[in-house]
Amino acid sequence: MSTSTPPPADPRTFTPTTLDLGDAHLRPWSRKDVESSALVQGLMDAAADPQIALWNPLPAADHAAAVKWLEVRGDAWDAGTLATFALLEGPATDSGREPVFLGAVTVRWTDRSDGLGMVGYWLLPAARGRGLATRATLAATEWAFRTADVRRLELAHAVENEASCRVGLRAGFPAEGTLRASYRFGDGQYHDEHLHARLATDPTPQG
Ligand SMILES: CC(C)(COP(=O)(O)OP(=O)(O)OC[C@H]1O[C@@H](n2cnc3c(N)ncnc32)[C@H](O)[C@@H]1OP(=O)(O)O)[C@@H](O)C(=O)NCCC(=O)NCCS
Repeated sequence: MSTSTPPPADPRTFTPTTLDLGDAHLRPWSRKDVESSALVQGLMDAAADPQIALWNPLPAADHAAAVKWLEVRGDAWDAGTLATFALLEGPATDSGREPVFLGAVTVRWTDRSDGLGMVGYWLLPAARGRGLATRATLAATEWAFRTADVRRLELAHAVENEASCRVGLRAGFPAEGTLRASYRFGDGQYHDEHLHARLATDPTPQG
């Protein structure tokens, strides 16, 4: 008798998976992470970082809010509707030690029945500048195409956010245009955004 897990009823479901980047790994955030003070504190530190508060505000200002954020993320993994990965230092095999938290990558459906999704990312300041956001975005994108039948993945960033633009381009998401006054960011102002997208049929970017 087979003991393998049956495939999900809807192929457009995000299935929790750990993705190894070599020097770091992405692993699904879960409700159990509330037991890790390093992860909960890391989430609160991220919410307090000025760049994250501006471009990717997180409702995790205090312990209770951070726990709530994790619970919502856990529920969404259960439903297969939103994939939130914690980016942690070291290879995936590096278990048993308190994790060193670096940031997060999310993949969400914007139109599940049409295979349309959106990717997002943020890193703590100490983790920036070593290509991690690009590599983590690449890994999560290819996982979404391979396992969740994503057809087109979009990425949007404020036009002033040059680092995010570089991440998109390097991860194989060409810019498609400018969305005018399309999103209200953490400063309370509407900013123009660049829309980037990658299709499942696009080639994997080289280097
Ligand atoms: C955007 C962010 C995730 C980039 O993380 P990172 O790990 O430093 O990115 P990478 O190391 O992969 O660098 C990507 C590119 O951006 C460039 N870059 C980094 N910071 C930059 C800056 N302030 N201005 C211009 N370019 C910058 C890097 O040189 C690199 O370019 P290259 O590939 O041509 O060498 C990080 O700065 C961050 O978390 N910012 C706050 C939250 C945020 O903006 N999230 C995205 C919302 S859309």
